[in-house]
Amino acid sequence: VKILVIGASGAIGSAACEALAAHHEVITAGRNSGDVNVDIANRNSIDDMYQLTGKIDAVVSATGAVHFGPLLEMDEEKFMLGLTNKVMGQVNLVLSGMAFINDGGSFTLTSGILDRDPVRQGCNAATANGALAGFVKGAALEMPRGIRVNVVSPGLLHVSADKYGSLFPGHETVSNERVGRAFRKCVDGAMSGQVIIADG
Ligand SMILES: NC(=O)c1ccc[n+]([C@@H]2O[C@H](COP(=O)([O-])OP(=O)(O)OC[C@H]3O[C@@H](n4cnc5c(N)ncnc54)[C@H](OP(=O)(O)O)[C@@H]3O)[C@@H](O)[C@H]2O)c1
Repeated sequence: VKILVIGASGAIGSAACEALAAHHEVITAGRNSGDVNVDIANRNSIDDMYQLTGKIDAVVSATGAVHFGPLLEMDEEKFMLGLTNKVMGQVNLVLSGMAFINDGGSFTLTSGILDRDPVRQGCNAATANGALAGFVKGAALEMPRGIRVNVVSPGLLHVSADKYGSLFPGHETVSNERVGRAFRKCVDGAMSGQVIIADG
């Protein structure tokens, strides 16, 4: 199975690659890293990436930006980051990827814990995560050719605790292995339209 992992160099992407690379051929992508460069905020860039990779069996997205900050300081521009980047960036990976994904292939996106276990300053992330859950549920009903689509919803990774831990007081952190297994389940399992929870 040939898998394209977007955001492979990141914390979540590394966890996904560690689990998948032992079993599959992995092509990595990122804005400034990986075998192929892509900016998920730019639909043309996404199309160019797929032209370079050609046909693939699975797409794993482990990227997507959101704005962390107090709700009362949020304006439309800040809020749109989660919607245009984390939501539409990943939705466009699916929409553009339909022409390149083989029969029986899969798309796996990344959301996060904050729509089910919210924290202060995480409203934009919570909104984006909820939207992605809705997207995979709706999109799965219309996927042709046995193609599946799911989203992994990780908790805070052990390795990200230094960076984000102060925003997540009292949260259990989760290992790379647990998050990696969730991506493996989405790629090699049979489910579609599911939110796969991988938290502590
Ligand atoms: N870390 C956690 O504990 C955690 C937990 C739950 C959910 N999440 C979610 O998982 C996603 C990834 O988080 P992360 O912590 O792994 O981030 P990260 O460590 O900063 O990694 C981000 C990855 O995405 C790539 N990237 C960044 N902007 C991009 C763009 N516009 N187009 C294409 N690739 C881009 C980066 O590569 P380049 O630098 O080369 O662009 C990098 O490979 C986010 O949506 C986050 O909300 C993270």
